[in-house]
Amino acid sequence: MRTAVTSMLGIDFPVFAFTHCRDVVAAVTNAGGLGVLGAVAHSPEQLDIDLKWIREQVKGRPFGVDLLIPSKYAGSNEGGIDGKSLRAMVPDEHREWLERLLERYDVPGLPEPASGDRGMARMRVDPKSMGPLIDVSFDNKVAFLASALGSPPKWLVDRCHAAGIPVAALAGRTDHAVAHKEAGVDIVIAQGTEGGGHTGEIATMVLIPQVVDAVAPIPVLAAGGIASGRQMAAALALGAEGVWCGSVWLTTNEAETSPAIRAKFLAATSADTLRSRSLTGKPARMMRSAWTDAWQEPDAPQPLPMPLQSALIGEAQRRIHRIAHKEGSGAQKLATYFVGQVVGQMNTSMPARRVVAEMIEEFVTAMERVNALLEE
Ligand SMILES: Cc1cc2nc3c(=O)[nH]c(=O)nc-3n(C[C@H](O)[C@H](O)[C@H](O)COP(=O)(O)O)c2cc1C
Repeated sequence: MRTAVTSMLGIDFPVFAFTHCRDVVAAVTNAGGLGVLGAVAHSPEQLDIDLKWIREQVKGRPFGVDLLIPSKYAGSNEGGIDGKSLRAMVPDEHREWLERLLERYDVPGLPEPASGDRGMARMRVDPKSMGPLIDVSFDNKVAFLASALGSPPKWLVDRCHAAGIPVAALAGRTDHAVAHKEAGVDIVIAQGTEGGGHTGEIATMVLIPQVVDAVAPIPVLAAGGIASGRQMAAALALGAEGVWCGSVWLTTNEAETSPAIRAKFLAATSADTLRSRSLTGKPARMMRSAWTDAWQEPDAPQPLPMPLQSALIGEAQRRIHRIAHKEGSGAQKLATYFVGQVVGQMNTSMPARRVVAEMIEEFVTAMERVNALLEE
């Protein structure tokens, strides 16, 4: 296939895979698409190990890295918060409510309770802490860099361009996409509300043509609700130059998705997700579970702003996921994870390479079907 993004990146198919799993990155890149490693939770050392491993697997084919660089977060005016201040900013009321929830669902403590900072999930949100991750990405010759939750800062765009690396940014609204264009991005990823993870309120079908028109001639990747060839054909018909998929990889054989979550995803329908602030403090689409229901109860506290919510719930989530595989347990009921509405069509585990191959085959069939509508 030839589109603006296949030419820009030297790939066979305009299929981009957002994933936290290095095996999926390598598999999709080797299948002719472009694997992008979500690196927000990586230490620079771990990122270096994973990117070196990917390089060995893909033998010169291109791959990318994705970073969350939110423009707004608690402490953004002070340039970030240290672990101690972060702990102090989590209200006791929230901790007590959460502990009562875990008691209600019989979720025991960790065998070795984490103390102090170790008990906090450290979500890297301040741009300064991204520097080392970006250095490691450049050292490992990434071909592409994406950022979410705001326009990439100028210093990042300049560094990427100096190294000849295209930069992309995710947008859930047309005004955000225009701001990304003004910030100098090379590709806009327009993500509809159907998508898994942080997501806005506008549906892909409505968002893509608006963004395509607003940022032209910058190429747009369509994201949110795309996991098959028919959906890919629709996205390209809307004016996108490629597709950016996240959820569909979570049930592939290569994914590190936990058995409890994988089972929930394989059984779920498209009605089983919702947007909730309960995992990160910003609205993100995830699987509905006893956890998301509890945060909507009348006595539940309001989720805290990013990154305080992740700090609040980090240990609770570890306690839940440690035992969520136990059939019928409270932890199994509570367990949730980010996923989009396409979860309803993710009904079997298969290799990531096959997901790409089936998507392209179905895309060709869909295009032939639509083209045939124009024949005499
Ligand atoms: C488990 C999960 C985690 C995600 N985390 C991030 C992230 O850290 N950075 C990011 O840019 N997008 C993230 N996303 C959004 C994806 O990049 C992508 O836009 C989205 O999954 C597309 O919609 P889909 O889920 O319908 O394929 C995440 C999505 C999922 C499912």
